[in-house]
Amino acid sequence: EQYFFRLPYAHIIADYVWPGVIMSPKRVIDIRDLEFGPQDVVIASYPKSGTTWISELASALAYNGNTEEVKHVRQDVRVPWLELENDYWWVRVFHWWSRLTGTDLKEKKKEPNQLLAGTRFRLCFTHLPVELLPKSVLEGKCKVLYVSRNPKDNAVSFFHFHRMARFLGLQKNLDWNEFFPLYLSGSLYCGSWFEHVLGYWQFAQNNKNVMFCKYEDMKENLETEISKIANFVEIELSDEQRQRVVKHCTFETMKDNKMANRDAIWLFNQKISKFMRKGQVGDWKNYFTLAQSAAFDEIYAEKMAGSGLDFKFE
Ligand code: A3P
Repeated sequence: EQYFFRLPYAHIIADYVWPGVIMSPKRVIDIRDLEFGPQDVVIASYPKSGTTWISELASALAYNGNTEEVKHVRQDVRVPWLELENDYWWVRVFHWWSRLTGTDLKEKKKEPNQLLAGTRFRLCFTHLPVELLPKSVLEGKCKVLYVSRNPKDNAVSFFHFHRMARFLGLQKNLDWNEFFPLYLSGSLYCGSWFEHVLGYWQFAQNNKNVMFCKYEDMKENLETEISKIANFVEIELSDEQRQRVVKHCTFETMKDNKMANRDAIWLFNQKISKFMRKGQVGDWKNYFTLAQSAAFDEIYAEKMAGSGLDFKFE
């Protein structure tokens, strides 16, 4: 049961007012047949794992490290959301400016998105679990960049996201102690962190076209991660270009970059909580009680056992 559907009027909102964001079944089915190819890089993540960060980074690489050009186009145009429904009148009205900037949302139904002028590959992002990816993606026809984050920080970030995201009910008074068990059991939008991450981890083990990244590694050494990602997407950067991309993608720069900080997106009420909130590793310590941390550790150990995957929590 989705957490969302326990909210008052949720079904009405989901079916008639705000269908695509919760992913209508039709959209999920349509997505199965989208044709992705060697010109595509799909960014995938469980929400609040650093999607916007890695999108900005990959986008800068798509522009050959030319960060000046990146600054002229909003990120949601450069890296559209794959499962966002685009066949409803309000989406078309709402995103009228996308057409002005050359991205016809209606056209995107058949094609993943257009190759933007000056870019070397197409980009989009998705929060779909691995099993719902388009067939062409599962067959390894394009590159997939998965970004993951330690689940304690992810939970805290997701908690604040529930407070400010209109499509999750704008629950500004949501209590952390109320949210914690929902996260732990995976009873919320996008389901269980464990299933999502482990599903993609398996996918990455069997497919050289999938790169599995971690938020904590990016935090620890952004330049090294940028080099690895550039290598993966086959873009050669000079030292100077790489330095520019590093600077462009730091938390401080992105926080003030209106083309990347989601400021203009009505889906979020950033007066309640900023999209670029803290951008730290270890913020979970300000939220988890000792009992919650111990309960979490136990489930983490059980679910991750034998996977070969582990995260840094500080
Ligand atoms: P916090 O809420 O912990 O601050 P997503 O893009 O997947 O929704 O993830 C959002 C999280 O990534 C937020 O975490 C946000 O601050 C963080 N983030 C975005 N850009 C970042 C950057 N350049 N450096 C570090 N963290 C970043």
